Amino acid sequence: MPAKGADVPGENRDVVVVGAGAIGLAAAWRLTQRGRSVAVVDPSPASAASHAAAGMLAPVTEVRYGEEALLALGIESLHRYPSFVAELQHATGHDVGLRTEGTLVVATDAGDRAMLADLHDFQRSLGLDANLLTSRECRELEPDLSPDVRCGLLARSDHSIDNRKLAAALLEAVEGAAMLVRDGVAAVEVEAGEVRGATLLGGGRITCTTVVIAAGPWSAGIEGVPEEIRPRVRPVKGEILRLRTRGPADLPNRSIRGIVNGREIYLVPRCDGELVVGATVEEMGFDTTVRAGAVRELLRDARAVLPVIDELELVEAIAAHRPGSPDNRPMIGTTGLRGLVLATGHYRNGILLTPVTADLVADIVTGTEPDPALSSLVSPQRFSPVAVRA
Ligand code: GLY
Repeated sequence: MPAKGADVPGENRDVVVVGAGAIGLAAAWRLTQRGRSVAVVDPSPASAASHAAAGMLAPVTEVRYGEEALLALGIESLHRYPSFVAELQHATGHDVGLRTEGTLVVATDAGDRAMLADLHDFQRSLGLDANLLTSRECRELEPDLSPDVRCGLLARSDHSIDNRKLAAALLEAVEGAAMLVRDGVAAVEVEAGEVRGATLLGGGRITCTTVVIAAGPWSAGIEGVPEEIRPRVRPVKGEILRLRTRGPADLPNRSIRGIVNGREIYLVPRCDGELVVGATVEEMGFDTTVRAGAVRELLRDARAVLPVIDELELVEAIAAHRPGSPDNRPMIGTTGLRGLVLATGHYRNGILLTPVTADLVADIVTGTEPDPALSSLVSPQRFSPVAVRA
């Protein structure tokens, strides 16, 4: 294996994965398990949204009208999480902070209670497991909730994971099994209508028959990809905070989501004393500024749900970008260009959808028929032609 960050002239692999976030790393790891030689190319592995995210594994409380297909995908991925984590922990020896205490959604004023009731009706119409709770029942679960919390909804199956530990463990697993190149991809090389390799910004070149684009919001900007199949992803900015307990456990026992004057806030506790509070949703291109006003608004809404956060230390405020797609569903699958596979556009659900995406990519690249019920939901060809012009 070449030194990290070195040019890789003359290298050949079966597959080049562009992007070493949770999605790209997990896909690469699965591909190596299926006997493929893999290079993963990223100037800054395990960073960006994989680093910033809250790690909610929450298909039931994230469900939105019209997104039933995304829900089905999320539930399937969540179902795969325990074995995925057990395998990763076995491979690396690292705990990745999977928490299975469920998620509580709470509401305060009358408008927010109506929103929560609507969400519950929708969840019930889909046969999902979510129970309405009184304010007293909410406080029995979470004694530090604000007295203003009037009702709640418990989704026992919505969990969380420490995405930073997850990404670090995936990176370690990949470093042991694949070639990791800390560089950017300048272009996908295409010849005679098929993928032949990837050239790197640092000047190297890796020949391969398959390129998997898993570069999150940067997936649309990779040269060499024919215009008509370029993934239609865009950056959706999120500002997110990390707080920490100074003394013994003042944190909630499970993830809490609040509806506060019609806005949504989430508070995700970690076993090590961290509380993640997020997140804004802004169409600002690749802007990474953390606005003072965003920090204020996040703290205000988090405090409306859990006043005790005033006592915590504010340790981090960062911004990252979700890879938004036109229908909020990811694009995972083959494209009209032979050898080009996409695994991008995961929007708000990249960490949740990591296991199912990795399995789908591994199936697609190795010629195993992917589960058609899943692959049809995420095919990139819903947005682009079946074959590119010669
Ligand atoms: N999944 C939460 C978010 O994107 O903010």
